[in-house]
Amino acid sequence: MSDIKKIKDEYLAKLNKDQNLESINQIKTELFGKNGIVSNEFKKMGSVPQEERKKFASDLNFIKEELQNKISEKAQEIETKEINLKLENEKVDVTLPERNFKLGKIHPVSQVIDEISSIFSEIGFSVEEGPDVENEYNNFTALNTPDNHPARDMHDTFYLDHKKELLLRTHTSPVQVRTMLKGKPPFKIIAPGRTYRSDSDQTHAPMFHQVEGLHIDKDINMGHLKGCLNYFIKEFFEVDKLKMRFRPSHFPFTEPSAEVDIGYEIKDGKIIIGEGDKWLEILGCGMVHPNVLKNVNVDPSKYQGYAFGIGIDRLGMLKYGINDLRAFFETDYRWLSHFGFDPLDVPSSYRGLSR
Ligand code: PHE
Repeated sequence: MSDIKKIKDEYLAKLNKDQNLESINQIKTELFGKNGIVSNEFKKMGSVPQEERKKFASDLNFIKEELQNKISEKAQEIETKEINLKLENEKVDVTLPERNFKLGKIHPVSQVIDEISSIFSEIGFSVEEGPDVENEYNNFTALNTPDNHPARDMHDTFYLDHKKELLLRTHTSPVQVRTMLKGKPPFKIIAPGRTYRSDSDQTHAPMFHQVEGLHIDKDINMGHLKGCLNYFIKEFFEVDKLKMRFRPSHFPFTEPSAEVDIGYEIKDGKIIIGEGDKWLEILGCGMVHPNVLKNVNVDPSKYQGYAFGIGIDRLGMLKYGINDLRAFFETDYRWLSHFGFDPLDVPSSYRGLSR
């Protein structure tokens, strides 16, 4: 048997074995590549004696064609096999019963944050954020809070290192500092977020939520603060009438400072906001202290304004009749499916499935 016949038989046998596309390609280069076996046979043509050359050429062409046909046939076969396998695996059984579908609920705190943000955005406030892990400077020093202030006490603040340089922010007020340091006045922002204090009972959780407000411009006074809060509380509780009082208070970062109470009464076991003769404290506020403005490079002789800090969880409890703050953070699915909110864009046919 001639060399080329041997080559042909050997490779036909190889190709007939169960091959994959990769090994077929490999064989293709072995035979027909630049230095391939068949290519090299063609190169020998010149050295074949004249009288044998014709036959050699014809045999070689014949073998070349046979091997090439086999290769494409085999490649085609493998491809078809792969496609069929894929079709088989991806087959959908339309007779199967549908999967159980459970719609999630929006947590009351997220809902209240959304409501607050949209009310304040109507009157030109934008939303800022800051980190939960804060440094001592932003949380206290820049906010004019002296070293001996009780809020700095270990009993109140969660410190993250022995030097007391890093802590879990005790209020959202450091976002005032961050916002003013990175920009130029005027500022008109709110900053909702998580805050932490070493406290835990029915109305206090070690982690809770606040929303900070800050409005600094050339002629901002306490009247603006009052108007803004009055508008917000009415919108939030969806009432036309509101009893609100400013009680003198003290915060190191505002002067003067006040706490705000709203009037309420309890009728048939329900809290009615805006009527009655009981008072409930809901926020702290005041005119931003000149020292704070100096600390963030704002000239207090040109700019002034107000700030406030509202307890978000407390607002949610009041509006939605939830009486234990701790339940907010227990991740009890039954509680959430009762007090949680449906996402707005849920098709109505899904709504019944959520419980
Ligand atoms: N940061 C204060 C608190 O947590 C609230 C506050 C914010 C008071 C802004 C005045 C101005 O109690």
